[in-house]
Amino acid sequence: MASLVASLLSLFKPFNVFCGVGAYAFWKIFHALYLSPLRNVPGSFWMRISKLPMFIADVRGTERDFMLRNYERYGSVFVMEPRKVAVCDPDDCAMILGSHAFAKDQKYANVDFIEPNVFLTRDPELNKQRRRQIGPVLSAKNLKKMEDTILDAGPRQLVAKWGQVADQGKICYYYDFMLMTFDIIGSLGFGHAQRSLTTGDRRIAHWVKRSFMLLFLQAIAPIAKSWPFKRVLAKSLYADANKLIELGSRAIEQRRELLLKEADANNKPADILQAFIDAEDPESRIQMTKSQVVTETIIGLLAGSDTSSNTLAWTVHLLLMHPQHLERATKEVRAVFARDHTITYEEAQESLPFLEACMFESLRLRPVTSNLPRCIPRGGVVLQGHFIPDGHSCSVSIVAANMSSRVWAHPYKYLPERFLNNNIRKKRVLTFSTGVRVCPGRHLALMEILTTLANILNAFDLKLPEDSLFGPERVDKQTGLPVLMPYSYAITCAPRFPDRDCNVVISKRKD
Ligand code: HEM
Repeated sequence: MASLVASLLSLFKPFNVFCGVGAYAFWKIFHALYLSPLRNVPGSFWMRISKLPMFIADVRGTERDFMLRNYERYGSVFVMEPRKVAVCDPDDCAMILGSHAFAKDQKYANVDFIEPNVFLTRDPELNKQRRRQIGPVLSAKNLKKMEDTILDAGPRQLVAKWGQVADQGKICYYYDFMLMTFDIIGSLGFGHAQRSLTTGDRRIAHWVKRSFMLLFLQAIAPIAKSWPFKRVLAKSLYADANKLIELGSRAIEQRRELLLKEADANNKPADILQAFIDAEDPESRIQMTKSQVVTETIIGLLAGSDTSSNTLAWTVHLLLMHPQHLERATKEVRAVFARDHTITYEEAQESLPFLEACMFESLRLRPVTSNLPRCIPRGGVVLQGHFIPDGHSCSVSIVAANMSSRVWAHPYKYLPERFLNNNIRKKRVLTFSTGVRVCPGRHLALMEILTTLANILNAFDLKLPEDSLFGPERVDKQTGLPVLMPYSYAITCAPRFPDRDCNVVISKRKD
C-alpha cells in the first residue's frame, strides 16, 4: 500500500505535471480549432478554448459591454464559451424563445431553497400549468382592479415623500425607486400596505436582496446547497431567505383569518395574494398549495422589484442626459393634468404618448436583463447558416438584439420618437423576453414605471445637480452621444455608483 502511494505521488513531479497540463492545453486548443462542431462559428480564440472571458465579464459586472463588443466584432452568432453560442439576431432570438424545445439552462434548476416555480422550472408542463394559474392574475385587465393599491404604494407615496424634501437640494432617486417597487409588489403579494419608502424600514428589501443572492449562488455553484454552506458559510443567507418565506406563510394565514371573519365572501381584497390563493388552472382545475402561493409571490418579488426600479432609474438618467426629451415629456404631462391629480395608467396611456415612448426607448437602450441561457434541443438548430448540435447551449442576448441595426436605425441613440404611434416597434423590444416564457409581470412593470414617471413629472421639475459627473454636454468623442453613468450587472443591470450618479434636484411645479 505504502509503495503504491509513493509511486502515485512520484507522478506529481514538476516535470510530469508540466507535461500533463501541456497535453491538456494542447488537446483543448486542437479540439476547439479543428474538431469542435463550433469551429466555423465566429468568435475569439480565448472564448473557444475557455469559459474564462465570459466568467471575468460576469464577475466584473461588464456583461453588457462584453456582449456588444463581440456582437459588433463577430456578428449575430458567435462562440461565447467552448460549448455555447451567443444569439443576437432578433428573429433568431424570437425563434428560440418561442418554443419550449429550447429548455432553460440547468442553472435555473440548481436553485432549491424554494419550491419549483414558474420562473426556475425547466419542465414545460409545470411552467404551462403555473402560467395558466398566475397569468390571468397579472393580466392588464386584472391589474386594473389592483390599481389603487399600486398607486398608493407607488407614485402617491413617492410624490408625498418627495414633496417634503423638494426645494432642499438633491436627492438620490435610485433607493427611492427601489423601496417603492418593493412596496408595490409587497403590498400586492403580502396583503397589507408595505411602506418601506416612507418608514425607512428596509427589512423586507434586505431579505429580498439576500434571497436573490442565495438564488444566484445556488444557480452558479450548487455546492452552496451542501451542509457546510447551509449551516456555516452561507447560514445568514439561508436565514434571511427563510424570513421571507415565513413572511409569505404568515400573510396567507392572516388572509384566511380575515376571510373567516368577513361575512361577505365576495368582498375579497383585490391583490395578488388573494388572486394567487384563488387561482385555478382552467385545464386541470388544480389550485396552488399554500407553499406554492408563497413561492410564486417571492419569485414575483425577486423578478419584479429590481428590474422595475432599475428601469425607472435608467429612464430618469436618460431623460436628464437628454433635456430636450425631458422638457417635451414634462410639457406633455402638464398640458393635460392638474398639479394635484394622480395620473392613472389608462390616463397615461391615452394622453402621454411621448412619455410612454421614452419608457420604451429606455427599455430598449438599457435593458436591465441581459443573457437568457437555453439548451439546444435534439436535432440541433441552424443559426445564421451555422449548425449548432444538441448537447451545446446558447444564450439569447437581449442587449445585442435590442441594438440590431437591421431593426433599429441609430441603435445607440436615445430616440423616443421611434416608438410614437408604433405599437409594432414596442413589441420588438426584447427586454421582457418574448414567446412561451415571456415575462408575465410585464403589465405590472409597465404600469408602475409609466405612472411613476407621469406623476413625478407632473408634480416636480427635475434638474441635474451642479456637481453631477454626467450631463448632456459630456459626450463621447467618437459617437458624439452623452456618456451614460457606469453600470454593473448582478443579474440585473444597475447603476454602478448610485450614491454618486443617481442624484437629482427636485423642485415643486410652479404653474
Ligand atoms: C422592468 C421590469 C421587468 C423586466 C425587464 C422583466 C424581464 C423578464 C425577463 C427577460 C424574463 C425571462 C427570463 C428568462 O427567460 O430567464 C422574465 C420572466 C419572468 N418575470 Fe419579469 N421582468 C420585469 C418585471 C417583472 C414583474 C413586475 C414580475 C412579477 C410580478 C415579473 C415576473 C416574472 C416571472 C414570474 C418570470 C418567469 C416566467 C417564466 O419563466 O415563464 N417580472 N422577466
